Amino acid sequence: MKTKILTKDQIIEAAHYLKQGGLVAFPTETVYGLGAVACNEQAVKKVYKAKGRPSDNPLIVHIAKQSDLAAFVTQINDSAKRLMDAFWPGPLTLIFNIKQGVLSKTVTGGLSTCAFRLPDNELTQQLIALSAPLVGPSANTSGKPSPTSAQHVYHDISGKIEAILDGGICQVGVESTVVDVSNDEEVVILRPGKISQQQLQEYVTVPVVYDQHLIGQSEIPKAPGMKYTHYAPAVPVMIVAQKDFSRAVAENANKKIALLAAKPIIDKLKNKVVDAYALSELINDSQSAAHRLFDGLRTLDCPEKYDLILAQQYDECDGLAIAYMNRLKKSAGHHFFH
Ligand code: TXA
Ligand code: MG
Repeated sequence: MKTKILTKDQIIEAAHYLKQGGLVAFPTETVYGLGAVACNEQAVKKVYKAKGRPSDNPLIVHIAKQSDLAAFVTQINDSAKRLMDAFWPGPLTLIFNIKQGVLSKTVTGGLSTCAFRLPDNELTQQLIALSAPLVGPSANTSGKPSPTSAQHVYHDISGKIEAILDGGICQVGVESTVVDVSNDEEVVILRPGKISQQQLQEYVTVPVVYDQHLIGQSEIPKAPGMKYTHYAPAVPVMIVAQKDFSRAVAENANKKIALLAAKPIIDKLKNKVVDAYALSELINDSQSAAHRLFDGLRTLDCPEKYDLILAQQYDECDGLAIAYMNRLKKSAGHHFFH
C-alpha cells in the first residue's frame, strides 16, 4: 500500500480511511500517534502489526471531548475530575476502570482499566470528532524513538498504513505523562512527561506517587533483557554530565563520535568529533532538549558514520527535564560515562 501524506485540508479523507477500518497517523502536541477506530477490533489489530508491538501492551484511547469518556469508564473520581479540568486538552493520559465489554482485549491488553487522552491539537480533535475515539500508540516502529514529525512516521511505517495527517513538528516532543486514577486513595504516575508530580499534586487532595516500574515491565514483556533499551538507535548511546564532556571525548578518541548536546558544549568540542546535533542553544534548556531529543536520536542513528553518541545529561529540575532523562536513559540502556 502507498502511504499518503495528507494536509489539514484533507481531514475528511483521513476520517474516511479510519471509518473504513484503515490506519492513519495523526499529530499531537507530544508525538505522532498511530490511529485506528478504538471499537474496530480488526483495525486495532493492524496497529500492533504495523508497529511490531507486543500484543499485550495496552493502547491509549484518544477522545475529542471530556464527555466522550462516559461511554467507557465506570466512574470519574474527584482526582480524575480535577486533573481533567486542569490539564485537558494537554499532555496527560489518565487510566480509568472501564465498563465490561466496551473495549476489546486488543485495546486493553486484557486489563480492567484503559488509558484515555484528550490531545491539545485542534486538527486531531476534529479528526476524532469526525471518526470516533481512536487508539493512538506512538507511531514509531516498536523500540525506536517516538516520531515528532510526519517524516519520522513515514520513515518507520510507510507502506503499512493508509495515511499520515501532517501537522508539522510536535511541540512538546516527549510522550504524555501517564497517570493511574483508577484508585481513590492515590494518584500514580506510570510514565513521566511534561506535567510533573508537583503540578499534579497541586490539584488533588490524595498523594501523587511515582511508580518507576510498571510501564518498563509492560513495554517489552517478551524480552526482559531488552527492557532498558527502548528508544534505542543502532549506534550506542552514552550519557555524559556537562562537566565531563571534554574527558569523555578524549577517552573515546579511537571512536567516531557524534555529540547530542547543548550548543555551548558542541562549540567547544566540534573539532574533535565527527558530527553533532544541538539539543538547545542554552546549556540547561530542558524544553528545547525534550522537543529535539527524538529527532536528534534519529538523525544520529547512522552506524556507518558513527561508533558512539555522547548525549548530555540535563539537570532534572522540571517535568520536561525528568521526561527527557527518562527517555535518554532508556535509549542509552542506562549507560553513563564516569
Ligand atoms: O503522548 C502520548 O501519550 C502518545 C500520543 C500519540 O498520544 N501516545 C503514546 O502511546 O505514547 P504509547 O502506546 O506509545 O504509550 C502508552 C503507554 C505504554 O507504555 C502502555 O504500556 C501504557 O501507556 N498504558 C496504556 N494503557 C495502560 C493501562 N491500562 N495500564 C498501564 N499502562 C498503560
Ligand atoms: Mg510508544
